[in-house]
Amino acid sequence: MIARGPDSLITRDVARAAELLRRGALVAFPTETVYGLGADALNADAVARIFAAKGRPANHPLIIHLPSAEVLCAWALDIPEAAWLLARRFWPGPLTLILRRQEYIPDIVTGGLSTVGLRVPAHPVALELLRLFGGGVAAPSANRFGRVSPTEAQHVAEELGAAVDLILDGGPCRVGIESTIVDLSHGEPAILRPGGVTREQLEQTLGRPVALRTGGPVRAPGQHAVHYAPQARVIVVDSAGEARAVIEELAADRQRLAVLALEPIPGLNAGVKAISMPSDEQEMARELYRAFRQADALGLDAIIVVAPPASGLGLAIRDRLRRAAQAGAGNRTPNDYDAKRSTGV
Ligand code: TXA
Ligand code: MG
Repeated sequence: MIARGPDSLITRDVARAAELLRRGALVAFPTETVYGLGADALNADAVARIFAAKGRPANHPLIIHLPSAEVLCAWALDIPEAAWLLARRFWPGPLTLILRRQEYIPDIVTGGLSTVGLRVPAHPVALELLRLFGGGVAAPSANRFGRVSPTEAQHVAEELGAAVDLILDGGPCRVGIESTIVDLSHGEPAILRPGGVTREQLEQTLGRPVALRTGGPVRAPGQHAVHYAPQARVIVVDSAGEARAVIEELAADRQRLAVLALEPIPGLNAGVKAISMPSDEQEMARELYRAFRQADALGLDAIIVVAPPASGLGLAIRDRLRRAAQAGAGNRTPNDYDAKRSTGV
């Protein structure tokens, strides 16, 4: 007998993955944002296994992944013109639309809400899987609840191991942070979670301002205090100078540190084990979760991140940083600017 270690779960066999979905199995698959943990969206038992595998509370609805915008009417009702505009412009892509749901979608997928989250991912392997499977695939990020989303097949194996039946390998994710979630189910379109499509892009396409409603009445993603968090403490600062002061303080305390910043940090001393200097926001988003995982693999005490400005992809990066930094009592968050804006305070 050959032992079935987690690595033997990883494959590039899309046809086998589609067949497993048909049989009610759990298949992790790559998207351009992060890896998803998928099940047949119309099979309530299969979807229940997603919640068990992740350790996720049942009231967190799942996104249904579709092969193209052409099937949108099969899943949503009363689709407003704004939704079609966004779907045409950004699908396949890192955008999730919240729309009124069709009745037959199992409650376990939508958390009993009257709405459903839908998206067409921009990844060739995901699209091939969706086309071969022929239906909708309900999939959250393929990590344990509250932890860092996986951006490589190997991360999924480490997170979920034998709880998943198959992991489709599509290489590292291009975007690296989750999709933007836009609520179009009532009233004006609003962003529930900033992500791979920027607020500026949405506003340009819709020709009007789009509000951030991350603290609103609709159950929004990642509202739990601990989310997207590594074991290492995440310390978020607003400038290289501030980063240097924190590093000096912690290094004097013999802490093992990593730094992630878009700009060089002057006069760094030897206390820092790992430094990542992405050249722009895109690269920073792509590297963020990998850096978190690396910090844990190296057994570091803390990762210090200089937050990018709150525009473009920076808005989503700051959102994830804030949630990751809330994991430990002693953690520091960026100034309250984003939080105030998002809750409308
Ligand atoms: O990029 C992504 O969106 C990735 C990839 C795999 O597609 N998926 C992802 O799923 O991030 P997840 O489950 O980790 O986060 C999706 C969030 C959930 O936390 C949930 O709160 C929100 O989407 N959501 C889903 N349906 C919703 C609905 N009907 N109303 C409000 N929020 C919803
Ligand atoms: Mg998630």
